[in-house]
Amino acid sequence: MVKTISKYMIMGLGFLFFPVLLTVPESNWVHGLRAADAQVGMREVPSLDRGKAVYESNCAVCHGTHGDGNGTAASMFLMRPRDFRPGKFKLRTTPSGSLPTDDDLLWTITNGLRWTGMLGRPDLSVSDRRAVVQYIKTFSPRFATEKPQSPVAIPLAPPKTAKRVALGKTLYKDAGCDSCHGPTGAGDGSSSQGLKDDWGWPTRTSDLRWRPLKRGSSLEQLYITLATGFAGTPMPSYGDSLSGDQLWSLVYYLETLVPPGQDLDPRQFLGEERHGWMAIHMGGMMGPGMMGPGMMHRR
Ligand code: HEC
Ligand code: HEC
Repeated sequence: MVKTISKYMIMGLGFLFFPVLLTVPESNWVHGLRAADAQVGMREVPSLDRGKAVYESNCAVCHGTHGDGNGTAASMFLMRPRDFRPGKFKLRTTPSGSLPTDDDLLWTITNGLRWTGMLGRPDLSVSDRRAVVQYIKTFSPRFATEKPQSPVAIPLAPPKTAKRVALGKTLYKDAGCDSCHGPTGAGDGSSSQGLKDDWGWPTRTSDLRWRPLKRGSSLEQLYITLATGFAGTPMPSYGDSLSGDQLWSLVYYLETLVPPGQDLDPRQFLGEERHGWMAIHMGGMMGPGMMGPGMMHRR
């Protein structure tokens, strides 16, 4: 009964906020770290109190007040908001098994994970973003006992030659990418069914024929994904098994899998981003305490 009511509540709210959603300048949200930001943020020591306040008004609606990924709006998303307690993060510049650096978390909060409810928030001041980085680290005991390893080095991109693209094609098979991502990158390989992530949610093998991907569209970001993997998911890291030149060859080959017209304008809403907008606006209007957890479950 409660759940049914809440379903209509969401629909009603969505309807109410729809005009607001359409008028927000999207470009504010999708650009990277502003040059001035990096400078301002460096000089301040972020306070945990500030981080908590930023978190509770901007993040808790999805990630939950206690960082368990079970916020009021969590079940609106097929790709669930992160449970921060195990301290596992997909987007890192650090090797497989390592914690992310503070800058990695800042990058994620600034740029988001494309196609998911996790929208980048460059509209928050950089000192607020740095403060919330420190606060989300308190949800996992790992940060108190471990230090992140140094970021992996990205070697300068070698020239994109036909030979390298061909090598990339061979590696795509030999390294087993096709068994999950499928021969054309569509995400339909023989091992792509029934996968779960470490947080217990069903997960899908990415369709690699689109840009942007979660980290965006740049070749360096693609390289980092292959070199470090996505912790907590079936996506392995290849930083140890493949050389820099081999990884670049794979990157060049992956680019050939994108058909014309599927390299999308990064300013448009993709996948679950629109739901993300709705949840952020509801969270901002109602505050984290207004609705109990699970009020927005789909069933
Ligand atoms: C509208 C819902 C929503 C809000 C609000 C939200 N997130 Fe997320 N967040 C997500 C989802 C969904 C994911 C999982 C994306 C994925 O796994 O691909 C995520 C993932 C993350 C991750 C992990 C990324 C990784 O590399 O694994 C971090 C860090 C994060 N969010 C921080 C924040 C912070 C800080 C805020 C507030 C400033 C915030 N989020 C607000 C939905 C949200
Ligand atoms: C065991 C299955 C598996 C194998 C093998 C595998 N992947 Fe993945 N890959 C995944 C899954 C699952 C994801 C999505 C993870 C997520 O977002 O939760 C993924 C994500 C990715 C992404 C990021 C997509 C995005 O949306 O940002 C890239 C790029 C990628 N894989 C390329 C490769 C390449 C190249 C290889 C081989 C060198 C490979 N993968 C091997 C399962 C696999």
